[in-house]
Amino acid sequence: MTGNLADPAFWQQPPADRLKEFARLRALPEPVYFTERPARRRAPERGHWALVRHADVMEASRLPKVFASAPGVTTPEPARWVRALFGDSMVNLDGADHAQLRKVVSRAFTPRLLAETERDIHAVAARIVDDMLRERPEEFVAAVSSRLPLEVICNMMGIPQEYRAEIADRVNHASENIGVERGLAARLRVPGRGLRALARMQRMVAGIGRERRRHPADDLISALVTANVDGQALGARQLGAFFSLLMVAGVETTRNAITHGLTLLTEHPDQRDLLLSDFERYAEGAVEEMVRHSTPIIQFRRTVVAEHTLGGRTFRPGEKVVLYYASANRDEAVFPDPDAFDITRSPNPHLGFGGGGPHFCLGAHLAKVEMKALFRELLTRPVDLRAVGLPDLAGSNFDNRVRSLRFAFSPPVGPAEPAEPLTR
Ligand code: HEM
Repeated sequence: MTGNLADPAFWQQPPADRLKEFARLRALPEPVYFTERPARRRAPERGHWALVRHADVMEASRLPKVFASAPGVTTPEPARWVRALFGDSMVNLDGADHAQLRKVVSRAFTPRLLAETERDIHAVAARIVDDMLRERPEEFVAAVSSRLPLEVICNMMGIPQEYRAEIADRVNHASENIGVERGLAARLRVPGRGLRALARMQRMVAGIGRERRRHPADDLISALVTANVDGQALGARQLGAFFSLLMVAGVETTRNAITHGLTLLTEHPDQRDLLLSDFERYAEGAVEEMVRHSTPIIQFRRTVVAEHTLGGRTFRPGEKVVLYYASANRDEAVFPDPDAFDITRSPNPHLGFGGGGPHFCLGAHLAKVEMKALFRELLTRPVDLRAVGLPDLAGSNFDNRVRSLRFAFSPPVGPAEPAEPLTR
């Protein structure tokens, strides 16, 4: 077993071993430094300080003038040429640049638009379960959990139906290896394929943006590319970058949360029975606990820009820290019996959507509505829906990604309900 968080092999270990190591790190008096693999031979040493306690992750999240998101929040940071080619995503920006972009894209998340989206989510969730009952698939990720978030974001953005299969394929290629250890040959080949997939998807979305600027429709792309009252609008490249962010931040995360949720309910039949005893009463607590327990985004990085003492150590400008949400969410100082899956946990101040501060997840409410809507359909229409065997985990250090999960269910007794149209 390796205890080096910067070693990709650490993330290939069974989840229980990783959690044990995080518990050990949390008990130490101050954060530990981990050396990362150099970007190229003879490159200067690089590494990060691991923030593993709930209080430390929260404090760093809320001090953006000390812990900056530029030049990048992923580990390792995106290369400069990647940022130049694709435009900076809002997760990697700070201060006024970030605030301005967040204000423009927040239009997608106004209460009016969210209320409309919520109606759409219920229809899409019902349709996915209709298809599932008809087609009797055996693999959950492709047939169920990845479909809902992708359809919801495409509907919000107004992506024409004919582009969607290709977008799903591109997102899979672009993200399948983020944070995953691979052999040298695959390392050389796959980034190229992932970046090409991303570039093609961004060009496709930029093209739709140009079209909507000429002929606006009642959708989010039109709202983003046409100037609003402040005169702010996204350019084609910014639109492409925002769309990619939504695909990774909004689709992959929600799909993983739903998939882990099914495993958790299968492994804890008492919690499943409790949820089913009064779905509307327990659903909110259940989805919060699924996000805490599975922590779909494992970590984000920050760069120190001002001297600051935190968690027993004084950080200096230029140093890197990594916020391990996966560890903060199991911190025994905050969560009694942290490894238990308890849908009645209250309070449940988990950091699955971030530790607060300016970058707090823009789609947290949307993700929770999606999870509730899908589990309502999945648990109340088919009979005895359950995971079969363990999820096939990608072993990524970035997100708690599930490649596939086998599942089973029995069809409902009585005639199937008619299907609703999938798109608005
Ligand atoms: C269970 C599902 C989800 C999880 C676990 C998750 C988690 C996160 C986390 C940890 C962050 C970083 C917070 C920080 O740095 O303080 C984040 C940011 C973000 N999320 Fe989510 N997210 C989820 C779903 C979504 C959805 C559905 C959307 C949109 C449709 C979305 C859009 C975003 C965006 C745009 C950001 C960047 C915000 C900024 O930089 O200002 N997320 N999310």
